[in-house]
Amino acid sequence: MQNILVTGGAGFIGSNFVHHVVETTDARVTVLDKLTYASTEESLAGLPEDRVRLVVGDIADASVVDPLVEEADAVVHYAAESHNDNSLSDPAPFIVTNLVGTFTLLEAARRYDKRFHHVSTDEVYGDLELDDPKRFTEETPYNPSSPYSASKAGSDHLVRAWVRSFGVRATISNCSNNYGPWQHVEKFIPRQITEVIDGRKPRVYGDGLNVRDWIHTSDHSSAVLAILEKGRVGETYLIGADGERSNVDVVRAILRHFGRDADDIEWVTDRAGHDRRYAIESGKLRSELGWTPQFQDFEAGLADTIEWYQANEAWWRPAKAATEAAYAAKGQ
Ligand code: NAD
Ligand code: TYD
Repeated sequence: MQNILVTGGAGFIGSNFVHHVVETTDARVTVLDKLTYASTEESLAGLPEDRVRLVVGDIADASVVDPLVEEADAVVHYAAESHNDNSLSDPAPFIVTNLVGTFTLLEAARRYDKRFHHVSTDEVYGDLELDDPKRFTEETPYNPSSPYSASKAGSDHLVRAWVRSFGVRATISNCSNNYGPWQHVEKFIPRQITEVIDGRKPRVYGDGLNVRDWIHTSDHSSAVLAILEKGRVGETYLIGADGERSNVDVVRAILRHFGRDADDIEWVTDRAGHDRRYAIESGKLRSELGWTPQFQDFEAGLADTIEWYQANEAWWRPAKAATEAAYAAKGQ
């Protein structure tokens, strides 16, 4: 694998993948990223200039996408509008980036016959009951709840159609909720860590019993690289690290870390259409490709993440101010 085009490589998870590729392979990487409010260009700082190049542009613009896909050996597609709450207040960018953007990349991959890996989410499957003995598998029917998850589900369907109808050499991965450094403060874990750093109460939606299946972003990166290198074309792989926790349990772990009272929580109005539980069965990925997560202990990974946010206040402080101003304008 000589040249990898990574879309959304300046975001939270894409930038982690770029580091992982540089550290573990000899490939060169071109990052195509629009540098939206969610991007994290600083996370690419320090990478070798002869191996990593950033192109600022839109994945929905074929005049930008085509030459980059033509010169690449493979495309790993992370770029997306990624936050559920934003998709409820303004779905339009989710449709353009997640659907039209994926279509534009697929057309280029078809034209130039390039290997394509599509990064998706377990949210395409909808949700599980808290007491459901089953977890999501590659066979679970799609049943998305929000504009975000519906746009990701639609993008997965486009990839499957381009495999079947046009023979595009694509794979798909659907991963559970990621945590780790460089995640935007609009997302649950960084939002609550930074609220507590500021001496405020974490803000928990509804009854706080919703369950997410947490995985460290570096484990997501190693799984995506394994699929790119060894995955079977046309296949979907679920990525998860057996990290199910209720939201209130996560918040209490953060409060404990700071020596704060476990009930020091602000309970706020529930999210519309809020999915109850996500849970991943990742046996196919583990048995076929030999992948295992390195962060087995969520509490230890969370402690590292909290310490990273404490040490990197200069990075998240402007995004926090902008996010709070946006929420205030929307009355959230
Ligand atoms: P993010 O919002 O942090 O990063 C997205 C990146 O895409 C940003 O750098 C942004 O500038 C870029 N981008 C957005 N629109 C673009 C466009 N039109 N053209 C080019 N670049 C554009 O998101 P993330 O959390 O890093 O998620 C990355 C991918 O992983 C997404 O596809 C998401 O659906 C998927 N995913 C995320 C999670 C999670 O827990 N965050 C879990 C599973 C899957
Ligand atoms: P989020 O990070 O938005 O991820 P997703 O919606 O993709 O799962 O939210 C994770 C969980 O945390 C979800 O159940 C919603 C909840 N949540 C809160 O309780 N408070 C918050 O301030 C946020 C942002 C999320």
